[in-house]
Amino acid sequence: MTGFANVKACLFDAYGTLFDVHSLVGRVAESLGDKAQTVSSAWRDKQLQYTWLRSLMRAHADFWQVTGEALDYALGLNGIDDAAIHHELMQAYLTLDAYADVAPALDELKRRGFKTAILSNGSPHMLSSAVASAGIGDALDAVLSVEDVGVYKPDPRVYRMAADRFAVEPHQLCFVSANGWDAAGAAHFGLRVAWLNRFGQKPERLPGKPGAVIKGLDALPPLLAA
Ligand code: LAC
Repeated sequence: MTGFANVKACLFDAYGTLFDVHSLVGRVAESLGDKAQTVSSAWRDKQLQYTWLRSLMRAHADFWQVTGEALDYALGLNGIDDAAIHHELMQAYLTLDAYADVAPALDELKRRGFKTAILSNGSPHMLSSAVASAGIGDALDAVLSVEDVGVYKPDPRVYRMAADRFAVEPHQLCFVSANGWDAAGAAHFGLRVAWLNRFGQKPERLPGKPGAVIKGLDALPPLLAA
């Protein structure tokens, strides 16, 4: 018996876990040329920093606004001031690619009777667009947004919302995130966490240790069988 033995539902972080945020680079390379990579990473870094800072400042704004403000920063950093590029990049966020291992893993979990859901910082509109675009809506029982609690991950209220929503104890939820800090936050709260280390990152030095580290979502169903 492992820590994953009593899991009833599996929750997934969205961006970087199910949806490939780096696929944006390819899409925008035409507009940004050799600045595509630096804009893309500054955008993602600032987007996350702003969620944490706004939570500390108790100045919540939804993820669409935060993502737009982070993009303004990243473009400005690279000397770009172009409303059309800003618009194009924001629209790309609504139609991100899903990683190739997402649909098979979700289908397998559903076949085996697990509930499945997204638990994300994304606003409901952003998430429903990305889910529809990736064609994974039928394999998800719920799409949960932090907008229901008005604070960002890794605030414990976010992870608690998911346990409340499924009416289970935290240890009956498996949470999968490619973001090490999110994996730590969920584990610290008490969820059973699989850190999806897609990018070969070093472990975070934070409270809360994931129960498992996997490299791809194909490794998730066997973990839940153990
Ligand atoms: C999310 C971000 C953290 O989907 O990737 O919540």
